[in-house]
Amino acid sequence: MKNHITLTTINFVKEKLEGAEAGHDWFHIERVWKLSKKIAEKEGGNLEVIELSALLHDIADPKFHNGDETLALKISKDFLEEIHVNAELIEHVLFVIKNISFKNRAEAPENPPLELQIVQDADRLDAIGAIGIARTFNFGGFKNNLMYHPEIKPNLGMNKEEYKKSNGTTINHFYEKLLLLKDLMNTETAKRIASERHNFMLQFLDEFYKEWNVEL
Ligand code: ADP
Ligand code: NI
Repeated sequence: MKNHITLTTINFVKEKLEGAEAGHDWFHIERVWKLSKKIAEKEGGNLEVIELSALLHDIADPKFHNGDETLALKISKDFLEEIHVNAELIEHVLFVIKNISFKNRAEAPENPPLELQIVQDADRLDAIGAIGIARTFNFGGFKNNLMYHPEIKPNLGMNKEEYKKSNGTTINHFYEKLLLLKDLMNTETAKRIASERHNFMLQFLDEFYKEWNVEL
């Protein structure tokens, strides 16, 4: 779909995300959008819902808006209404955006629609592998977190509030999130892609510790 609605949405998102942190900028959205389309080629699903949800899913990430979790929904709804997208389609898109987040997975719907499964997989795939590593270090730097501290251990039992507030190290974020993602993929297509990206992160961690400990 590269129709009028998609093009208008792309322009809207690009403009809104001007100056965003590099891990959550237009290029993240573009990758998630393209990846969603590729997964949908194999898995099916309603492409209009998938593309619009992928494009709008980070329009107002709560991390950058004082934790406000309703803002993205409001901005997306207002925008889609303004460009006269039909009400049923809007409802589906808002449902995906509302439920996509990793930190809200405890409140996830029981039988997620295929469109949510696909966009969530694409978003999670962009959080792992080489790009995932780069995004995570960029975000850690943005927050002025430490890259690594040998005495600060990962916190695996964090609830949502603790997770959001966490100022742990960037390496710990691998154990708290990134390495968990491969087992959280919904679709078979994403599971296959995730497995390769997961192995790449394990390799990266091995090398990181080796160099940290000056093992030659
Ligand atoms: P979601 O937005 O899907 O709920 P997160 O809040 O974990 O997920 O953030 C998405 C991405 O932001 C992560 O995949 C990671 O790259 C980066 N990120 C989030 N929290 C941290 C952190 N504490 N340290 C480093 N990177 C982080
Ligand atoms: Ni995202």
